[in-house]
Amino acid sequence: MNDKKPLMDYRRVQKLQTPLLLTGALLSGVGTSVSVPLVILGIAIMLFAIVIGVLYYRCPHCGRPLGRIGEGGAYCPHCGKALNAPVEEPVRSITVPAYAKLNLTLDILGKRDDGYHEMQMVMQTVSLHDDVTVTLTDGKGITCRVDGAALPCDERNLAVKAARAFCEAMDYGGGIDIALIKRIPSEAGMAGGSADAAAVLRALRELVSPTLTDERLEQISASVGSDVPFCIRGGTQLAEGRGEKLTVLKPAPRFFVAVCKPDFPISTPELFHRVDARTSRCRPDTDGICAALADGDMPRLARRMYNVFEDVLTHREGEIAAIKSRLLDGGALGAVMSGTGSAVFGLFADADSAAYAKRRLARDYQECFLTETIARLEI
Ligand code: C5P
Repeated sequence: MNDKKPLMDYRRVQKLQTPLLLTGALLSGVGTSVSVPLVILGIAIMLFAIVIGVLYYRCPHCGRPLGRIGEGGAYCPHCGKALNAPVEEPVRSITVPAYAKLNLTLDILGKRDDGYHEMQMVMQTVSLHDDVTVTLTDGKGITCRVDGAALPCDERNLAVKAARAFCEAMDYGGGIDIALIKRIPSEAGMAGGSADAAAVLRALRELVSPTLTDERLEQISASVGSDVPFCIRGGTQLAEGRGEKLTVLKPAPRFFVAVCKPDFPISTPELFHRVDARTSRCRPDTDGICAALADGDMPRLARRMYNVFEDVLTHREGEIAAIKSRLLDGGALGAVMSGTGSAVFGLFADADSAAYAKRRLARDYQECFLTETIARLEI
């Protein structure tokens, strides 16, 4: 951002400097034989001419001093731009897509001392997305607006939490406005909040600090939530640790996906608690799914999808299994609950079967989506 733009145009300085210097010299010359105050006034005018030259005889584009080089030349010696070219306003607003994720697998390896769980998940970005507009404002603080869902606009919203984390990490004190257009269902296990947070961080890097490294951005994102680093990178990744340790996998082949989100949430801490209370459970074949990805073998991959949270669903949450059956009956190669639910999705080899399965589920469920896998994001 060009925040060094001079307050006075360099052409005005050029026009002012010579008459001021001449007047100052004349006054101090005449003053030596007439009065001392006149000499002082003359010197003050000359000093003023020198000071405005130092302060404001600067490139209108990059703000650096033009020195003597710029006097006759038409181009800035530093940035090379034509001095009389219109000055571009710095970009202060940007809209970024925030893509949803799906868990092809979810495994819990154990409970950690910090209260979190050691995870092993194969995660995939899909095209279903929110739109996140970040604007730098003249005021102070973070404001947020949400369209398309009833969500809080304070620190409980991960997008706001991400902006705060960025300001603290980068020592940025300017105002930030966040506008969210929501499409990703909430309480679905599709990282709707984390995706918005990641989009805010990507946008703020572009607007405020383009030299910030990917590693540092991911570090900041991990303090916002366990799924945010994945949402920064996207694509097909193995997520371990809390979910923040990522290994790039061979991108999944293009899948068509029918998603159905039943209208009940499942509490995330409650689900982890249920898993802790159980000893034996089925586990996903994570190595097998990574191998299927490496071979580009879609049916093998789809058959191996599994989420350990499905093991601890209660009778009340039996609809998850019912939706899975309907997706499989509709021709899905595999179906599974995503993350901590309650969204369930099926992978299809062709768009028509996915659309048909989605239409049938949409008769009974309000929140049904048709989407597809997408590759890693450019960060
Ligand atoms: O990191 P995040 O804020 O997304 O986590 C939300 C909650 O999910 C945590 O408070 C914790 O209860 C649970 N969690 C966990 N182990 C993880 C990730 C999340 O126990 N690896």
